[in-house]
Amino acid sequence: MSKEKSEFGVFGLGVMGSSISINIAEKGYRLSVFNRADAGEEEVVNQFLSDNSHLDNIQGFTDLKSFIESIDRPRKILIMIKAGPTVDLVLNILIPLLSEGDIIIDGGNSHYMNTKRRFELAESKGINFIGAGISGGEEGARKGPSIMPGGKRESYNLVSDVLESIAALDDFGKTCCTYVGPEGSGHFIKMVHNGIEYVEMQLLAELYALMSKSMSNEEIAVVFENWNKGPLSSYLLEITVQILRKTEGDKYLLDLILDKAGNKGTGSWSSKAAFDLGIPNTMMSAAVFARYISSFKDTRIKMSDLIEPEQSMTKDINLKSVENSYKFARLINHQQGFRLMQLASQTYEWNLNFSDIARIWSNGCIIKSHLMNQLHNEFKEAQDLFDMTLVKGDLINAESDLCETIKLGLKYRVSTHCFSASYNYWVDMTTKNLSANLIQAQRDFFGAHTFQRVDAPESEFFHSKW
Ligand code: 6PG
Repeated sequence: MSKEKSEFGVFGLGVMGSSISINIAEKGYRLSVFNRADAGEEEVVNQFLSDNSHLDNIQGFTDLKSFIESIDRPRKILIMIKAGPTVDLVLNILIPLLSEGDIIIDGGNSHYMNTKRRFELAESKGINFIGAGISGGEEGARKGPSIMPGGKRESYNLVSDVLESIAALDDFGKTCCTYVGPEGSGHFIKMVHNGIEYVEMQLLAELYALMSKSMSNEEIAVVFENWNKGPLSSYLLEITVQILRKTEGDKYLLDLILDKAGNKGTGSWSSKAAFDLGIPNTMMSAAVFARYISSFKDTRIKMSDLIEPEQSMTKDINLKSVENSYKFARLINHQQGFRLMQLASQTYEWNLNFSDIARIWSNGCIIKSHLMNQLHNEFKEAQDLFDMTLVKGDLINAESDLCETIKLGLKYRVSTHCFSASYNYWVDMTTKNLSANLIQAQRDFFGAHTFQRVDAPESEFFHSKW
């Protein structure tokens, strides 16, 4: 007797694919899963089925045609594979086997431009394509991620029940999955999510470096733990407390981890997008470069011989001032991140809803935080963090504390890539007259690039015989 057709399919049983498959099956959907049986992966599907034998609504396949035939039409297939050229290879074999009106969801961290291209390709073959950012790592995928789907709204409506049922819930019990906007917009906002994530991580790393000058891992953990009980609370702060406390034998595991940060590219994509759109995204770039610098370990070791041994901090660190600086820098990070999405939304006519975006980022994802809940409310009225009264007050009040934190870094030779970037950005954004008049003069001097004048309308351009 043939089995009843599945309501949904998952292509790829890697860590994220397996976790999300279990999540979907647990919600009661009849599910087909596929993984290739290539060398080294022969047992992936069988293993997955036997590990989850209590779920009798899953069918497993290593044959693509059988997998596709096992799914009810219009077929809904979530592909969970490594972002990059593999997605194109998979689409090339998948699309010819599908029928008009079927839906493919790419749940990986694909670049939004690739998603736009794939969306158009699939569309030209009568297939609906959704690029869905999914955040929350393995645990999120299993227990409730934040999901950011972009594509045609009609396609989304056909898969919304499944996606919304597996997502995390916000504070009001609403699902952390919502239709984001057309074509690559879902993957664009996931990319910016990751950029914000890079900065949030880097800020904590900079604080750890500063505080370590006079505090133990446990002492830092206590401070972070206290912050995490109030308005600064976030998932990344919470896990950092656990990381600081983790021991291996009589040592802290953190002290045994090599100081070379990896990356898979989404942080640099955010920075590139900001360059392309012509918008200052200084903190994300600083966070990406800080990771790159860390990877030059050999050079760092060699060069460190040139420098006098570091001083340890004698004076106790002013924790209140550091806390205020952290609050300040996080606000600037979110201001820059949301501003980037805003410009993309205008440029590509995506009509993004920032209150909704903050809401679906309030749980399930890596950058979930108390601040995100506040932003969900604030974005109902304001379009930019700089227009939010609550934010403005915090920034103005914390400026002098931020200076103190940066000064501490200067004194003790601790780099503050992101804290300094937030300060410079804030100073420039609150300064009427910058030195860009000199840049304009230089451009005009050597290249006749022209300049505008303060005593003439901005629409007029001048050139001087220097
Ligand atoms: C998430 C994460 C996840 C991953 C990123 C960043 O939202 O679940 O953002 O997607 O952490 O790919 O990874 P890298 O730090 O390796 O670039």
